[in-house]
Amino acid sequence: MAGFDRNFTDELRARLSLVDVIGRRVPLVKKGQNYWGCCPFHNEKTPSFSVNEDKGFYHCFGCGEHGDIISFVMKSENVDFRTAISELADMAGLKMPEYKPKSAAQVAREESYFEILENAAQIYQKKLYDPDGAHALEYIHRRGFNDDMIKKYRIGYAPKNNIIANKFVNLKQDNLLSTGMCRRGDYGMYDFFRDKLMFPIFNAHGQVIAFSGRSLDGSEPKYINTTDTELFHKRRTVFGFNFARDAIHRANRSIVVEGQIDAIKMQCNGFPETVAPLGTALTEDHIAILCKSNRNITFCFDGDGAGQKAGARACDIVMPFLRDTSDVRFAFVTGGKDPDEVLNTGGTAAMQKIINDATPLVDFLWNLANAGFNVSTPNGRTQAEKFLKQKIAKINDVTLRDEYEHEYKSRMFNQWHKWNKNKNYTSAIELPEIDAITQKTLIFITNKYPEIAERYVDFLTSLNMSLDGDAPDLPMDEHAAEKYIISLKLQKWLETLHIQRKELTARKLSGDDVDEQIAKVDTDIRDANERIEKLISM
Ligand code: UTP
Ligand code: MN
Repeated sequence: MAGFDRNFTDELRARLSLVDVIGRRVPLVKKGQNYWGCCPFHNEKTPSFSVNEDKGFYHCFGCGEHGDIISFVMKSENVDFRTAISELADMAGLKMPEYKPKSAAQVAREESYFEILENAAQIYQKKLYDPDGAHALEYIHRRGFNDDMIKKYRIGYAPKNNIIANKFVNLKQDNLLSTGMCRRGDYGMYDFFRDKLMFPIFNAHGQVIAFSGRSLDGSEPKYINTTDTELFHKRRTVFGFNFARDAIHRANRSIVVEGQIDAIKMQCNGFPETVAPLGTALTEDHIAILCKSNRNITFCFDGDGAGQKAGARACDIVMPFLRDTSDVRFAFVTGGKDPDEVLNTGGTAAMQKIINDATPLVDFLWNLANAGFNVSTPNGRTQAEKFLKQKIAKINDVTLRDEYEHEYKSRMFNQWHKWNKNKNYTSAIELPEIDAITQKTLIFITNKYPEIAERYVDFLTSLNMSLDGDAPDLPMDEHAAEKYIISLKLQKWLETLHIQRKELTARKLSGDDVDEQIAKVDTDIRDANERIEKLISM
């Protein structure tokens, strides 16, 4: 197709998993050779949309829609071939080859925006080293930036006057306004950024698309960013991504920090895979951009209450992106306010420790539920359970969702109902020692099927046996597990009955009148035996 090297589209197909690309939009389940899901191109409740990874095609038996990875992106996102290719190239971490331009007018306009922004960046860079930028230079040096860093990140200074408006005074005003660099006032055009330390914001290709300006005199707000323009969409821009992209591939993970200075400091101190959202809000688009490389993200938040909140929010946003291959973690900064401070005081080693100690998502979510509700009461536990359920519901991968559900059920049982832990239970019935195999089997069942264990909690408690320890993996389904517990219960009952029967026989031999009791125990013994027989034949 127009202007594209066939080799390039072939390489995209080779690099990307069709199932993965489609799976981001449509939950898929593997059945036999193919993956199946509900067709995104027509309305249906029963899956008739099949994806064949090996052949690289999808086909809907309901509506007949059919195609490959490129047509899927084009159709599902309603974009043209070029855009689809460019998105896929991003996912594959490939550079786009040259392509035929869109409309000449649009390109001309965009080029003029890029040119203005590039010029502005150069002007600001120069100003930082001019006398009127001295206080800004002194400030950024004090923040631990050396001149190499200033150069690499193209940090600059926007002076107090209208340097940009004046420079482009002959340009069409609309163009200048559209870049977000200037505004129109009663007395003509004026600069948006004045007396600010300037951080250019780059797109993935390293072109300047916007700026973030930090106040230098303590005035609020601390940071102002270019408002959204044709080139810059704050919700879709990840700060530092252009520098981090290769590193994210190499390290096979990304680190997300809260502030842009933190991102730069991290990148320069051993964590080149670090990025930051712009402003405080993390969006789905940010995560989607990172997930195009891989689904391993370590969020690194400030150790305060706001950081915990941000963590909870990030958790919400990341859930739909989870796959069985994802490794999502949450690190919380200690020993400083933010990564910048930690690096200043404790260096890379201190930061490395924080990253290493990051909590996996499954535990972070569990901790949130336990911290957010009073799990020592039935009501609190219900709230916490609902909270977890609602979070898990956001996982698209059905099998993974099931596993999370199992995991939390087991934790709820083992940690909220401390019936099997460190308690001195008085045994309700005298029982012979339980053998090790039975014990292991019960550990397996309580871990794998906590609902069953919950149902037989009285009996399990009466065994007076520790159910802590590693669970072996047994090929036992839920039904078999329940049968096992019932049969054990019956056998234990039978054992007790036999003991009682022996005692009664002894008493009868020594002259006691226990006929009635013996008859009752014999009936029970018959009953227990019958029930065991019935269970076995079930
Ligand atoms: P912080 O308040 O944690 O600032 O905001 P910071 O990154 O530590 O900034 P320094 O170190 O004092 O320079 C975190 C991020 O929130 C956004 C910025 O992107 C900032 O990096 N923010 C903060 C704003 O957009 N506007 C603000 O007024 C404040
Ligand atoms: Mn900071």
